[in-house]
Amino acid sequence: MSSSTKQGRTGGPAKSHAQKKIAVLGCGKMGTILLESFLERKLITPQEAIATVQHGERSQELSRELSGVPVGTDNRAAVADAEIVLLCVKPQVLGQLLEEIAPALGPTTLVISIAASTTTSFIQQKLGKNIPVVRAMPNTPAMVGAAMTAVCAGPAATAQHVETAKHLFESVGRALIVDEKHMDAITALSASGPAFVFVILESLAEAGVKVGLPREMATTLAAQTLYGSAQLALETGHHPALLKDAVTTPAGCTIEGLMELEKGGLRVTLMNAVIKTTIRARELMTS
Ligand SMILES: NC(=O)c1ccc[n+]([C@@H]2O[C@H](COP(=O)([O-])OP(=O)(O)OC[C@H]3O[C@@H](n4cnc5c(N)ncnc54)[C@H](OP(=O)(O)O)[C@@H]3O)[C@@H](O)[C@H]2O)c1
Repeated sequence: MSSSTKQGRTGGPAKSHAQKKIAVLGCGKMGTILLESFLERKLITPQEAIATVQHGERSQELSRELSGVPVGTDNRAAVADAEIVLLCVKPQVLGQLLEEIAPALGPTTLVISIAASTTTSFIQQKLGKNIPVVRAMPNTPAMVGAAMTAVCAGPAATAQHVETAKHLFESVGRALIVDEKHMDAITALSASGPAFVFVILESLAEAGVKVGLPREMATTLAAQTLYGSAQLALETGHHPALLKDAVTTPAGCTIEGLMELEKGGLRVTLMNAVIKTTIRARELMTS
């Protein structure tokens, strides 16, 4: 983001030099990953950011970790001069936070929420104004610039607001504009997805150890195999079944392993994991 634009990225007029580009409210695991990534990729400078957490001691620790970014516990003060407010608190506390910040938001401030389960219309209704709201669902690979983020527009958000959010998340990986009806499924597949993949990675590495490989070597082999296979699927656009067939020689070794995967019900287990997570994502805000 350019800091010298006369027109703010959100479409509103440029504010004073004290204006913060981004206020990250709820700078926990995901908020910190995103903020650090935006800073590392020079999308913003530390002077253009501000962050909040709930606990005073945590804010002091985080201030030291995020050198140059002020971190406090006053959400209203944090949003007062912000061009973009990034909401990274848990869904269960989001309602109260929205009521707290609503009076302090500027009319052109773009509010982006990464909270699972929480709809843009809920956020809009809590803010009680025609504030542009965009919902986003990133994932932890943002830490290495390989995030998958889905973004969707709230009732008062324009195409430009959605593009602004997409641009922000593209600095930490891929970003896709989607319809909000898909957000709970996306939460399960790509936001919870890294946890599922890490279980697969851990299991492959453990299997390597079982067949005699040193642990570190087994982990590298397994991780690079997952990474390379994903890259191959993304770059070729080929169906995964076709890519699998290319590895599977008739009466060879791979088919032996594939039969074990079928016996163990790997496919249906992964499918059920995504289905159950989607259901949980739908109910999270109310529990
Ligand atoms: N983790 C993921 O992979 C992921 C992926 C996509 C989306 N998300 C979404 O991101 C959100 C945060 O998840 P997380 O895993 O990062 O949780 P987390 O680590 O628990 O972070 C939540 C943060 O919110 C802060 N907080 C709580 N109440 C607050 C308040 N009233 N004002 C300001 N800050 C407050 C907490 O402060 P203290 O540190 O002081 O307690 C904490 O830093 C959730 O809505 C989740 O659905 C997470």
